[in-house]
Amino acid sequence: MKVMAFNGSPRKNWNTATLLEHALEGAREAGAEVELVHLYPLDFKGCASCFACKRIGREEIGVCALKDELRPVLERVRAADALLLGTPVYYGCESACTRAFIERLQFPYLNYADYSKPHFPRKIATGLVYTMNVPEGLLERLGYPASFERTRANLARHFGSCELLLATNTSQYDDYDKYEAGFDKQDKARHRETQFPEDCRRARELGARLAQGYRP
Ligand SMILES: Cc1cc2nc3c(=O)[nH]c(=O)nc-3n(C[C@H](O)[C@H](O)[C@H](O)COP(=O)(O)O)c2cc1C
Repeated sequence: MKVMAFNGSPRKNWNTATLLEHALEGAREAGAEVELVHLYPLDFKGCASCFACKRIGREEIGVCALKDELRPVLERVRAADALLLGTPVYYGCESACTRAFIERLQFPYLNYADYSKPHFPRKIATGLVYTMNVPEGLLERLGYPASFERTRANLARHFGSCELLLATNTSQYDDYDKYEAGFDKQDKARHRETQFPEDCRRARELGARLAQGYRP
């Protein structure tokens, strides 16, 4: 059992990465082999719309034709038993880097001839972690749940299943006195001390579930 996680934040040790590390710790404790891939340092772009992955008579099914630094990562995905994507919310959706990754991850497995039969060779469990500045109470008003659900459902459709984990009201930096901000500093600090450890605990549990493999 191999669980691969992907950090779609440019920061390698902040909210998103921390949650992914806890998730992978949970997966490791449950007996899985784990790998964390930081997406930002990789030189890659989103789908080039070349449609090589849709050509009749192509040599390989489910393979993106682009030859860049994402290619070996996508090759390892083919052998993975569970995937976990983590992203900060940027302007109400995934970071640009995460979106580029999702296009490249999913499109080769999209079966235009029969949407109900993706080209990914088996069903696996996936997870999707979002971290965001806004407090939980604002999510509906901002339309975030619908945006998250669209991405979650797409992952489930391509790979088998997908579970969502949201971490709200994250701290954007260590010291709120150093940056312009209309945020309630004390509330941020309180949230960091009480809620974020709880988010990490939920991430650990998610990782353990991913390590159990696909369940319909
Ligand atoms: C360019 C940019 C856009 C952002 N847009 C939003 C947003 O629309 N909604 C939100 O709740 N937080 C937004 N944030 C805050 C981040 O989502 C939040 O701080 C997140 O936890 C950062 O993850 P990280 O610590 O892993 O980098 C934005 C941050 C940046 C840098």
